[in-house]
Amino acid sequence: MTANTRSDDRPVEIEDIGTNPTSNPSFTELIAARLSRRRLFGLGVGTAGTAMLQACGGGGGGGTAFPLLPAAPAPAPAPSPAPAPAPAAAMKLGFNPVAKSLADVVTVPAGYTASVLFRLGDPITPAVAAYRNDGSDAADTFDRRAGDHHDGMTFFGINASNKWAPTSAARGLLVMNHEAITPVFLHPTGQTVVGGARTVADEVLREFYVHGVSVIEVNKSGSSWSYKQDSSFNRRVHTLTEMTLSGPAAKTDYLKTKYSTDGSKTRGTVNNCANGTTPWGTYLTCEENWAGYFRRTTGTGATPKQLASFSRYGVSGTGRELWATVTPDTADNLYGRWNCEATGATATDDYRNGPNTYGWVVEIDPFNPSSTPKKRTALGRFGHEGACLGPVVVGKPLVWYMGDDSRNEYIYKFVSTKNWDAADIGGGMAAGDKYMDDGKLYVARFDADGTGAWLELKLGVNNITASYANYAFADAADVLVNARHAADAAGATKMDRPEWTAVNPKTGEVYVTLTNTNASSRPIGSTDAANPRYYNAPKTTSSSPQLGNPNGHIVRFADNNGDATSLSFKWDVYLFGARSSASADVNISQLSADNDFSSPDGMWFSEAAPGLLWLETDDGAYTDVTNCMLLAALPGKVGDGGARTIVNFSDTTTRSQKTFVGKAPGTDGLRRFLVGPVECEITGIAESGDGRALFVNIQHPGEDTKVADILDPSKFTSHWPQGGTARPRSATIVITKNDGGLIGL
Ligand code: FEO
Ligand code: CA
Ligand code: CA
Ligand code: CA
Repeated sequence: MTANTRSDDRPVEIEDIGTNPTSNPSFTELIAARLSRRRLFGLGVGTAGTAMLQACGGGGGGGTAFPLLPAAPAPAPAPSPAPAPAPAAAMKLGFNPVAKSLADVVTVPAGYTASVLFRLGDPITPAVAAYRNDGSDAADTFDRRAGDHHDGMTFFGINASNKWAPTSAARGLLVMNHEAITPVFLHPTGQTVVGGARTVADEVLREFYVHGVSVIEVNKSGSSWSYKQDSSFNRRVHTLTEMTLSGPAAKTDYLKTKYSTDGSKTRGTVNNCANGTTPWGTYLTCEENWAGYFRRTTGTGATPKQLASFSRYGVSGTGRELWATVTPDTADNLYGRWNCEATGATATDDYRNGPNTYGWVVEIDPFNPSSTPKKRTALGRFGHEGACLGPVVVGKPLVWYMGDDSRNEYIYKFVSTKNWDAADIGGGMAAGDKYMDDGKLYVARFDADGTGAWLELKLGVNNITASYANYAFADAADVLVNARHAADAAGATKMDRPEWTAVNPKTGEVYVTLTNTNASSRPIGSTDAANPRYYNAPKTTSSSPQLGNPNGHIVRFADNNGDATSLSFKWDVYLFGARSSASADVNISQLSADNDFSSPDGMWFSEAAPGLLWLETDDGAYTDVTNCMLLAALPGKVGDGGARTIVNFSDTTTRSQKTFVGKAPGTDGLRRFLVGPVECEITGIAESGDGRALFVNIQHPGEDTKVADILDPSKFTSHWPQGGTARPRSATIVITKNDGGLIGL
């Protein structure tokens, strides 16, 4: 057939459009006002009950004592062998920095080897053929192939009994998100669109399948790693996978659809960005910028409250992949369910509530391939970047820290009602029901004096009432489904795009990447103490300014008394992204050629080497000089750099901004470890149980290739990882040290 290929090449950043219209601080007002592992096992570390481990994304790793926390009752016996030997007391980065690069390769330091492990389209069963990578692979095989845009990732070590064994050094389940797609390379010649509609159903089916999550078994043989194509653990979760809605918003009117008239279930997960773990051994995948997938071109039939909800979450337009446009629809509305206009008589006749079934933290049990994933509504609905488990203490609540990734959105935490009982290790989804379906949801306010407060999101408190001006809250489920409105009402602090969260196992302090923002979202008059910079960082290759906070920063905080359930905290800005050539009021962390970076995004503390922080970038602002990168860091503590006044400049204004900064790291404290291929994002990170293998995802190399150039491989902007004339592919790599040592040290 003759078809028009979609020619609207993707915007560089689809995911960062702010939809927060409130006048929440912005500390201009506050300043004025003031001027007037993841799991507790024992693991043979320390005394029983004091060994604290946590992991947000990566998992794996050995144990570490957690000095701030009180002793607790004895946990269950260790389910796995002794941990890896502890690193030397005075930890030092042990590699030479990698130079910035625009080459179409992965570069790691001398003495290290990086190998490709798992690429877009790789089959996860022997029944599926190798990926041809020319757009011709059969659509109905993609539910058994690696997805696209590999993202957040966890390594779950397994033992010979096929049970979770966190310190397993040579065998594990690698579970990873597949956030989105690069459509130009997925089909023969990009997406086929005629008259604004998708006309090739197979292309859409392929897209349904390449989103979601992969579970694969990986094994070490000699010094090399591979995935096991015939493992019975291998599984794909995608946009057609049935999921249970769980927690306080489940089975309420907000979640009822034609597919599930009692609001108990939905189909699929999408835009799975960062991730998280539980201390009982399950995986959390987080639904980030899901709003853009839904079609809503008219307001017909929606109530004022529904319209306010759509508006606050950015549900409008044709849907980014036009999935709702395929005709005819199937009997079970595989396409029509992406249209959230009120087309039927009631909410159970259409999919007006479809968007309410997305935007959650989703639990998956990787050890049970037939288990049904659960969307945990108690953790609130927003653009979930990730869910980082706080320090785990027997007899205390469990805590997850969470960012909402859009400009001017917020930082949240969930505190379980139930106290942690180590007998629940290995408890699967039933343990999830116990700890994640009931608890308190909070949002963060960062105050100008270096302290902060957690504001509870609950009906009847913090201005979250039926009389709140922008949204009349009706009940507890309404607060969770419309958590952004609730956080607005409570007076949370707008941040410069919260991406990943990470908890330092040595201190319990929480780090949050604030990847970047622009001048319209953070004008010079709206900087505040925790989002303190406004500057111009233009590219050398363009005369256009890059205004606002284009390089991003990393905020960190310590909940008071070392208690993750505390309702107050102290904070500072650990690190500021900048060009090393930038002025002192921009390059506040005094970055050098060995460690300068822009747009921090992925972030994770090693467990095998407690205190070692890995930092990944998703950058579009410094790409005249370098591709995205991975850095290793040894951060200090909140308050180690003291108070600082930054002088911000625009063309017309100078404005001083007081803040609190981390100590400048120098190359002893921050060093570039890896630079990726052209137009990739470095994201997702995990380590084997002994810390001797580091798994990293290379997302969307060559993503800016024009649809019009798809038939001319010489015009592809990347050919990584296959090289030659191949189409580029997102992929997981594994990095090992040639002497078999811990990575980075
Ligand atoms: Fe998917 Fe927040 O990056
Ligand atoms: Ca991200
Ligand atoms: Ca990002
Ligand atoms: Ca990306």
